[in-house]
Amino acid sequence: MFITFEGGEGSGKTTQSKRLYQYLIDRCIKAVHTREPGGTRVAEEIRNILVNGETNKMHRDTELLLYMAARVEHYKRKIYPLLCKGYVVICDRFHDSTLAYQCAKGISQKKIDAIYSAVFNEIKIDRTYFLSVDPDNGIYRATRNRSHENRFEQMGMKFHSDVLKNFDRIYENNRDRIVKIDSSGNPMRVFNEIVNDFNYLWSEVQKKKTQEQDT
Ligand SMILES: Nc1ncnc2c1ncn2[C@@H]1O[C@H](COP(=O)(O)OP(=O)(O)O)[C@@H](O)[C@H]1O
Ligand SMILES: [Mg+2]
Repeated sequence: MFITFEGGEGSGKTTQSKRLYQYLIDRCIKAVHTREPGGTRVAEEIRNILVNGETNKMHRDTELLLYMAARVEHYKRKIYPLLCKGYVVICDRFHDSTLAYQCAKGISQKKIDAIYSAVFNEIKIDRTYFLSVDPDNGIYRATRNRSHENRFEQMGMKFHSDVLKNFDRIYENNRDRIVKIDSSGNPMRVFNEIVNDFNYLWSEVQKKKTQEQDT
């Protein structure tokens, strides 16, 4: 089962995805927590280029290709093999982030889709939790106690509100996959929403498995 967490800076993706991972481990469900960009040695090296330094240090197309290169490493060499072994893979950011951020930098969805389909067959994501928070609040949270990996937090507010609009558009086009959660409130309430949905999803998957075994 493949679960992704999406949303802007400081929306709580890392906090909530790690909580869900711990919740599954506590229940003896085989699970792995990973993140993008990154997740493998080479992809983490690419991450360093992407998240550090000045905001305008490379052409936006170079940046897009680096995100996709990191994703190829991560998905083909780590995530997919784990999914085949029956793990629940929880990923902090995935392709929706590329769509939301790179489109906000002025790249067309057509170009992103073309690169995506050149390197991937259809990737099945079972559930995406889109954590939605006002960018002012998100950036405040994200920068409060962190001074590194801040290349994106330095982009202006207009950029971050465009990113949020793009996430909303992706959500509207993928309502069966994406659950949108207001993450402006208490982290425990946010987590309860995630867990309620996950447990429903998990029971559906188990039901299907039993049916398959019975036939
Ligand atoms: N619901 C919430 N309310 C207040 N603060 C939060 C909430 N969720 C996360 N935080 C805090 O905000 C900061 C950013 O959270 P994080 O999970 O790293 O966000 P992201 O990974 O989406 O950038 C952290 O210091 C975290 O403790
Ligand atoms: Mg994070």
